[in-house]
Amino acid sequence: LRVGLLFGGRSREHEVSVVSAAAIAQAFTEGDNRDRYEVIPIYIQKDGRWRVTDRVGIPNGEALEDSLWQFPAVAETIDVWFPILHGPNGEDGTIQGLLELMQRPYVGSGVAASAIGMDKILMKTVFGAVGLPQVRYIALQSSELWSDPCRYNHLCDRIETELGYPCFVKPANLGSSVGISKAKNRQQLTTALEAAAELDRRIIVETGVVARELECAVLGNDKPQASVVGEITYSSEFYDYETKYTDGRAQLHIPAEIPAAVSEQIRTMSLQAFQVLDAAGLARFDFFYVPSTGEVLINEVNTLPGFTALSMYPQLWAASGVPFPELVHRLVQLALE
Ligand code: ADP
Ligand code: DAL
Ligand code: MG
Repeated sequence: LRVGLLFGGRSREHEVSVVSAAAIAQAFTEGDNRDRYEVIPIYIQKDGRWRVTDRVGIPNGEALEDSLWQFPAVAETIDVWFPILHGPNGEDGTIQGLLELMQRPYVGSGVAASAIGMDKILMKTVFGAVGLPQVRYIALQSSELWSDPCRYNHLCDRIETELGYPCFVKPANLGSSVGISKAKNRQQLTTALEAAAELDRRIIVETGVVARELECAVLGNDKPQASVVGEITYSSEFYDYETKYTDGRAQLHIPAEIPAAVSEQIRTMSLQAFQVLDAAGLARFDFFYVPSTGEVLINEVNTLPGFTALSMYPQLWAASGVPFPELVHRLVQLALE
């Protein structure tokens, strides 16, 4: 089978996608996969132009100028698409819509689950509808900040009263912690709101919790399965971009050392969240576990989670009995179902 591996993309998570794609391309050359698959890497530049390349990596622009025009011809020859794009214009239903219109199978969730999963406000609305416990939050329009100073002060008063400090300010549509700030006072709050407003039309502000960060991987379509639960630890203020992608800053613990009942609760909540989103193929669900109260809160979903050999999603499956090459094979089989 010819697999069209789509990577790069227009989002702020472009570089992460390139690393994820390199690991996936490698997994398609291992063991039985070598005879089963041929990978066609297709790089989406930051400016949105598509290039058919001969390897996964950030290609040298000029040498590839001609490759741009090969795309329609190559697309005809692809049997199944594997979009490994993170963030807006890739994980948000846009590429999925294009592939639907092309009437070709592709790995992962469809348009609706991708779009809802990408938007933290819509995601929380859907999770809340089935009673999944979450942190307290307020959703805002970025334009509310610029409208007038009184309104701005009123918004900050409301955040302080309803959520308190510390709070987390996030662009509604992004990932890898890009644009997220932790605010401990009014001055940090206004700086945080302005930083998030630069990146998105909509902002979400949440109560900051003191919690352990646990993650669970789901694989499947109509009968999804949940992996063992993993934990992330780090010494920075929160799990920000540098901590996520600088070697040695964060530690993954698989399986997490947590009570069996908490692990079961997380696996059950992950499957419930996967089903209410109508996700397909894969998704990683991230949780806060507050040891002082025993509470488990769902934080978010990633419908195209980080996929480097060291990323949580493939590692959770490796620990659950599905090695990386087998995992990419299963994902393609699920796309063809
Ligand atoms: P992203 O989609 O960019 O990964 P998250 O919502 O997962 O955004 O937030 C990134 C990180 O910020 C989390 O992993 C956690 O470390 C921290 N964080 C986010 N929200 C909260 C919160 N409400 N309380 C405590 N920490 C938070
Ligand atoms: N959005 C990144 C890739 C992740 O959560 O894994
Ligand atoms: Mg996250």
